[in-house]
Amino acid sequence: MTTLERQAAAAVNPLLAAIADTGRDARRGGYTRPVYSSSELELREWFVAEASNRGLAVERDANGIIWAWWDLPTPAGAVTAGDPRAGALVTGSHLDSVPGGGPFDGPLGLASALAAFDVLAARESAGSLHRTRAFAIAVFPEEEGSAFGVACLGSRLLTGAITPARALALRDENGTSFAEASRRHGLDPDLMGRDETALSRIGQFVELHVEQGRGLNTEEFTDAAGRGPAVAVASSILGHGRWRLTFTGQGNHAGTTLMADRSDPMIAAASTVVAIRQIGAAQPGARATVGRLEPVPGGTNVIASRVDVWIDVRHQDDAVTAELVERIHGEAVHLAGVEGCAVTLSQGSLSATVTFDAELTRGLAASAQRTVAGAPALATGAGHDAGVLAAEVPTGMLFVRNPSGISHSPEEYVEDDDATAGTLALADALGDLL
Ligand code: GLV
Ligand code: MN
Ligand code: MN
Ligand code: MN
Repeated sequence: MTTLERQAAAAVNPLLAAIADTGRDARRGGYTRPVYSSSELELREWFVAEASNRGLAVERDANGIIWAWWDLPTPAGAVTAGDPRAGALVTGSHLDSVPGGGPFDGPLGLASALAAFDVLAARESAGSLHRTRAFAIAVFPEEEGSAFGVACLGSRLLTGAITPARALALRDENGTSFAEASRRHGLDPDLMGRDETALSRIGQFVELHVEQGRGLNTEEFTDAAGRGPAVAVASSILGHGRWRLTFTGQGNHAGTTLMADRSDPMIAAASTVVAIRQIGAAQPGARATVGRLEPVPGGTNVIASRVDVWIDVRHQDDAVTAELVERIHGEAVHLAGVEGCAVTLSQGSLSATVTFDAELTRGLAASAQRTVAGAPALATGAGHDAGVLAAEVPTGMLFVRNPSGISHSPEEYVEDDDATAGTLALADALGDLL
């Protein structure tokens, strides 16, 4: 790797710095950029401008995915048979965030892709890269599912992992349907759904992402100074899903209703939250989380009439995940009954455990070794569009060290040198595959 290449890769840091103030959440801390919010749209404009300035051909498809194409040059007078973008090498990530999220979850994948493109373009100009296929950077909408409740909505629509009818009926917290929101942002809901042309253009997909747990900070990988390697290669994603329990009871006055006379769904919900923690903790390898709970109508002096509880359950064995949810539901029915309340369960998104493509993963590891000695293979508990795409095309991921070991929180962190190393590893990996 040359000094110039290192400088080009280091541009990932000013790229991230340019968007560091977009979508900051003064109340929660960190960033809140749900899909179609003004801050997410601003980041999309930033991406489109950066890609266009690099001469990439930017377009948005029927599912709202942005593609920035680096096409193969067509020699003058050449007649091309078929789609010149078929089987392209694609990298990408997302720009939406969870409420109060960190700066890197999503944007790091896109800033590093832009900077990696610069490295590759310089190599092509210097004659050291000879591409055999097109390349694209993709921006996927609603990866977090923070607005409409289903994670990876863009890649699920693209692959048909969700039906357009189900996706379009999803509603955000203001009651706006995904169909209405899409229409408002210039998309035609009738055209959404599995897209064979777009899929045929993804020969392989590689996503670079901030590592989201303590994976690289464990003793297995850290040196004497407690420092882990800057980059890892993803091996698998834990199967995961989202459900919602809706407890209903008798809304009433906090002052006039005797304690003995209450059917308070908040009590049923609260005891279920504790039970969920216990059920998750009792199952080796499981994660069970309640991060969102909403009483209706939500007044200090009001006994709620309804409480919605959103549940996130993960396990490497998808049958165990299903069993855990069944157990949680059973416990919720019991606890609701004790309080004289009722409860129903509905499903949000569901993603089976994913093992990334073995050959691509071996290749990513070999490429990454050139920048980071001993880039280890790492399983992750976090979901990604790469996990959805893996069902359709050879897919792999690179992770960049997160010294805090914390994510989906303002404390998520990446050091500049590690972002540069990750970008070089991505550029090497993409260059080897092109
Ligand atoms: C998304 O980041 C998830 O893992 O839920
Ligand atoms: Mn992410
Ligand atoms: Mn995330
Ligand atoms: Mn994610």
